[in-house]
Amino acid sequence: MNPIDAEDELICLRAGDVAGPVMPPIVQASLFRFETLEELHGAQARENEVCVYSRGTNPTVRELEETLARLEGAEAAKCFASGMGAISATLFALLAEGDHVLFCGDIYGPTIEFAQRLEDYGVTHSRCFAAGIEEIEAALTPATKLIYFESPGSMRFELLPIAEICAIAKARGILTAIDNTVATPLLQKPLTMGCDLVLHSLTKYVGGHSDTLGGAVAGSAELVECVFRRGYMLTGAVMAPFDAWLLLRGLATLPARLARQHADALAVARFLADHPKVRRVFHPALAEGEQAALFARQMRGHSGLLSAEFDLPDHAAALAFGNRLRLFGKAISWGGVESLVSSAHRTDPGPDHDGRMPRTLLRFSVGLEGAEALISDLEQALA
Ligand SMILES: Cc1ncc(COP(=O)(O)O)c(C=O)c1O
Repeated sequence: MNPIDAEDELICLRAGDVAGPVMPPIVQASLFRFETLEELHGAQARENEVCVYSRGTNPTVRELEETLARLEGAEAAKCFASGMGAISATLFALLAEGDHVLFCGDIYGPTIEFAQRLEDYGVTHSRCFAAGIEEIEAALTPATKLIYFESPGSMRFELLPIAEICAIAKARGILTAIDNTVATPLLQKPLTMGCDLVLHSLTKYVGGHSDTLGGAVAGSAELVECVFRRGYMLTGAVMAPFDAWLLLRGLATLPARLARQHADALAVARFLADHPKVRRVFHPALAEGEQAALFARQMRGHSGLLSAEFDLPDHAAALAFGNRLRLFGKAISWGGVESLVSSAHRTDPGPDHDGRMPRTLLRFSVGLEGAEALISDLEQALA
């Protein structure tokens, strides 16, 4: 079944009968002229909305921001040069000396590395890997200013109870931010569940063709303005107009790509789940118990990502299996039209590591080659 909402499909297409070019012009200008200096000064006070200088606002980037805000049900959105641009500017803007951040679940590695850099400036952080609300509540401190999480995570796709986390945060005046990259704005709408800010790497599914980088933050006009003033303008990780144009083009086919990738990844996940050489498949639609209940409550479907722990003797055997695949490229990142495989570990973690990321875990990003071809490729590599 197609998990995409029909209204979202129209937003992605920017459908309508407004006269003019179907795609917006690429406004390749770094600055904008005004009639008078007074007008320029007035515009500078509203630099997040008015095009003054493209390190602030650019018309092509603005069109993408407005479309993403509509998809997320947000008052405002700001686009960045990359997902890390959005994440680092947001953390930098919201946090000050003495603040604590609680990171819940599996978090993208460089996000934690950025938090480690913030420690040098008096911002502390801690991590909670449990998905239970009691454990998350117990990990809060009087200094916690922000709860930051990913759901689904991007390796094992574990889900966290979004509405419950946001409710305990709100009751204590703590902000919440979620990295919604895996779900995309089409499969999960965290703002409707009480989140304050949603972050994206647009590099993955929104771009969809492995040819551009981008990031975004969406939320209330007030919070996005805060990120704009205290993060975006100062760190300067701004999106270029051509990248915004490519991402608008990517958005137009996102619903069609995701519907196909969702169906094909599920077929691949089911095939692997039944294979004797597979110990465990990680895919939210195959989860049981509380995870299955969260999937039904929070998500409309899952994207083209899955991972599996293989019944192979060691890390080297998992890599050898990955190398035997012919249709899955060996590359990092995910979300494009080409299928990819990657390992959870660059080097062998050994048999005694903590086990959250199994030694023989491989992640698959299912592209558009078709489930049948991908399954027969997996079959030959596992034989
Ligand atoms: C879940 C997640 N968030 C954020 C990022 C960072 O995005 P970018 O590479 O666009 O900076 C990535 C990149 O892999 C990611 O997987």
